[in-house]
Amino acid sequence: MADTVKPLSVIIIGCGRVAVKHLKAISKLKGLRLAAVVDTNSDSAKRLLASVKGFANTPVYSDYHEAIDTVKPDITSVTVPSGLHYQIASYAMEHGSNLLLEKPMTMSASEAKDIYNLARKTNCKIAMGHIYRYFPIVGLIRDDIAKGVYGKVTHGNINVRWGHDEAYYGSAAWRGTWKSDGGALMNQTIHAIDLLVWLMGSEPVSAEAMISQRLRNIEAEDLGMAILRLENGALASIEGTTATFPSKHMADFTVFCEKGMITMGIDSNKPHIKIFSLDENGKTHKLNGKYIRRQLKEGGLFSYKCALNPHMGIYNDLYNSIVNNTQPIADAYAGYSSVDTMMGIYKSAKENCQVSLPLTEDFSTVDMTGYFQS
Ligand SMILES: NC(=O)c1ccc[n+]([C@@H]2O[C@H](COP(=O)([O-])OP(=O)(O)OC[C@H]3O[C@@H](n4cnc5c(N)ncnc54)[C@H](O)[C@@H]3O)[C@@H](O)[C@H]2O)c1
Repeated sequence: MADTVKPLSVIIIGCGRVAVKHLKAISKLKGLRLAAVVDTNSDSAKRLLASVKGFANTPVYSDYHEAIDTVKPDITSVTVPSGLHYQIASYAMEHGSNLLLEKPMTMSASEAKDIYNLARKTNCKIAMGHIYRYFPIVGLIRDDIAKGVYGKVTHGNINVRWGHDEAYYGSAAWRGTWKSDGGALMNQTIHAIDLLVWLMGSEPVSAEAMISQRLRNIEAEDLGMAILRLENGALASIEGTTATFPSKHMADFTVFCEKGMITMGIDSNKPHIKIFSLDENGKTHKLNGKYIRRQLKEGGLFSYKCALNPHMGIYNDLYNSIVNNTQPIADAYAGYSSVDTMMGIYKSAKENCQVSLPLTEDFSTVDMTGYFQS
């Protein structure tokens, strides 16, 4: 990030759990200046500003319209409950602001398409809060798969076992509701679905899924499983749940290719990685060290610091994309496409059938209302 250019102004709208990661990231990057925070609850705003040194005097607003109209921020960070993303993201772009938009982009396929189209029309950049794309090594793997280094991609999977208990769901009324959040797939797994599809380098053409409520007392699913068929014929399987132990968070992906097998993930905060290639004599080679060194050479220590707070990588990427007029790594298309795929997954569960993607008719999480009551 260049420090010779005037810093870009940022406002954060929504001062809850994830906003702390945003503020920490902003505090570490010289090219960004926090211009204001917004929350309908002034105590949340104060708590956020007190969580990182040096921000106590930041202006606080309770109305996002007023904040955007007054500050005219270069970047609006949207960290409110998911059901509010659409209205705030639209308003910010209509007023010329770039976005760091938390996942999921919106709660319906049509809204996601609107946001994607608005970004193209206004040339506002959107960096999605798809943190997994910003982990070290992931981008190198993606480039190598795309270049054909590992041959044909056969299949892949993700497991997101992100245990959340009743205390988490009870911490805010919107959590686990169809209207404002969705369940374990929509909230905790959507960015992993985005990652897997991105790594496998082909668009989903159909989805088949089942969802269930096992342990958590919420409206939406606490467990979901799905299979996607990609345009290139590869299959992707998805497991996403919050019905596991909150003290044992784990998330991982594996991509299987003709000449390579790549697994990465985190288990109770510890990263793990296994990258193997297969040579023409049928011998396997472990490539972990090679990738770790290459990432250090190409991304420097900064890329490893992003493993601790991937939002730092997202802000850095957004800054560069605004200054250089390029697209962020997790761009508006990633936000739209992942919501479209997720809506296909829910539609498949609801209608008990395979669903073609991209959707030709709108579907939203609200269409799932009453699913577990019927
Ligand atoms: N990328 C990630 O790793 C990640 C992690 C956690 C959450 N998220 C996403 O971030 C979003 C927020 O999640 P959270 O856990 O921080 O929620 P939260 O409930 O902890 O915080 C949301 C905040 O928004 C405020 N708010 C509500 N309505 C508002 C409005 N109209 N104007 C201004 N502020 C308003 C609330 O008062 C609250 O302080 C969700 O979309 C979630 O999916 C992303």
